[in-house]
Amino acid sequence: MTDVVGLAAALLREARHVAVLTGAGVSAESGIPTFRDALSGLWASYDPEELATPQAFLRQPELVWDWYAERRAAITACAPNPAHHALAEIERRVPRFTLVTQNIDGLHAAAGSATVVELHGNIRRVKCFDEDVVVEQWDTAGERPPRCPRCGGMLRPDVVWFGELLPERALRAAWAAAESCDLFLSVGTSNLVVPAASLPWMAHRAGASVVVVNTTDEGQHKGDRIHCLLGPAGTVVPGLVRATWPE
Ligand code: OAD
Repeated sequence: MTDVVGLAAALLREARHVAVLTGAGVSAESGIPTFRDALSGLWASYDPEELATPQAFLRQPELVWDWYAERRAAITACAPNPAHHALAEIERRVPRFTLVTQNIDGLHAAAGSATVVELHGNIRRVKCFDEDVVVEQWDTAGERPPRCPRCGGMLRPDVVWFGELLPERALRAAWAAAESCDLFLSVGTSNLVVPAASLPWMAHRAGASVVVVNTTDEGQHKGDRIHCLLGPAGTVVPGLVRATWPE
């Protein structure tokens, strides 16, 4: 039987530029439900793909603001898990490292990752719907959604909604990393949403090896130079670090 962990560890030890793409699975063990898990409680009957659009916000701004406010409160109560910490550790050990995330929870930064390319924004930030400018402080007690202190427009979370373009700088940084890395780690993502889902392919086509960490290999890329480490990220990624750099 092939020792996939040993193989992945060897690739990581030798790599000059490691690019990582993370998805909701990396935060699952922090207590944040993945996107495609059923939501529970108050919001169980709402489909996120129907609330997370500019049209939904314009139609029902208070409902969408409240939905995000509840998610923000739940997320800020969560802490990074061993997978986030292990990725921060890899960053400190390899010559060049780019961490690209689809997550909006800010947990990579909380774990000490120095540079994080946020493809889908960050729920902890708020911006003006009209001016598309981040606002540092807003009135949490008054009108919902609160108003922009500069122009009076409605405030919204600084996350990418369905039908919106990804932040261009982040996307360019992600593409550049995929094209120039020699090892691409894909951790806890279902590969269902482009353009993020195309990054491992892009890296693979450019000659990189790809290591996938997921609890299932369903929907994951398969083939030559693609290695799958099955299991929860909070166990698998720290295990990979230990196998790569045994103390
Ligand atoms: P998904 O919810 O689509 O997928 C989560 C992935 O994590 C699945 O492949 C699970 O098998 C895997 N998983 C679950 N628990 C895990 C664990 N403990 N360890 C490792 N893997 C685990 O989330 P994303 O792929 O992040 O976009 O979804 C991508 C995008 O779809 C989101 O960013 C969001 C959504 O539409 C926007 O909001 C723009």
